Amino acid sequence: MDYRLMRMEVKVDARGKLVSLEGLKNIPFAIKRFYYMYDTIPDKERGFHAHRELEQLVIAIDGACEFVLDDGRSRDSVWLNRPDVGLYIGKKMWREMRNFSYGCKLMVLASDYYDESEYIRDYAMFLKEVL
Ligand code: TYD
Repeated sequence: MDYRLMRMEVKVDARGKLVSLEGLKNIPFAIKRFYYMYDTIPDKERGFHAHRELEQLVIAIDGACEFVLDDGRSRDSVWLNRPDVGLYIGKKMWREMRNFSYGCKLMVLASDYYDESEYIRDYAMFLKEVL
C-alpha cells in the first residue's frame, strides 16, 4: 500500500504552533499545487478516484475525516484528525473520504497541476490498471 501517515515537526513557542512544509525536504515530492476543502458535510462522501501519476499529502488542519485507501488488493481506513499529521498518498491508490466532521478543513499538497485526464474515476477501470 503506497500511503503513510507522516508526523510533522511542530515549532512550538509561547505564541502557538507552526508547521512548515517544503517540497523534497519534509514532503517527498516537489509541490506544484495546493488546494483545500472546507464546509464539508458529514454524510457526504468525496473522492472515489485514483490518480495515475499524482502524489499528494493531505492534512486535516481542523476537524476530522476518514480516508479509505485501496491499492486494488486490500483496503485500509485511516483517520485524519490532527494538524501535525499528514497522509501521504502515492500513485495509483484509490481513495474515498467519509465521516467528515462539520467544518472539517482539509489541506492538500499535490505534485502536479490539476489534470482531469490523469484521474481514474471508475473502480473497475482502476482494478484493470493496477492488477
Ligand atoms: P473532485 O475531484 O470531485 O473532488 P473530490 O476529490 O474531493 O471528490 O473535485 C471537485 C471539483 O473541483 C471538480 O469539478 C474538479 C474540480 N477541481 C479543480 O478544478 N481543481 C483541482 O485542483 C481539484 C482537486 C478539483
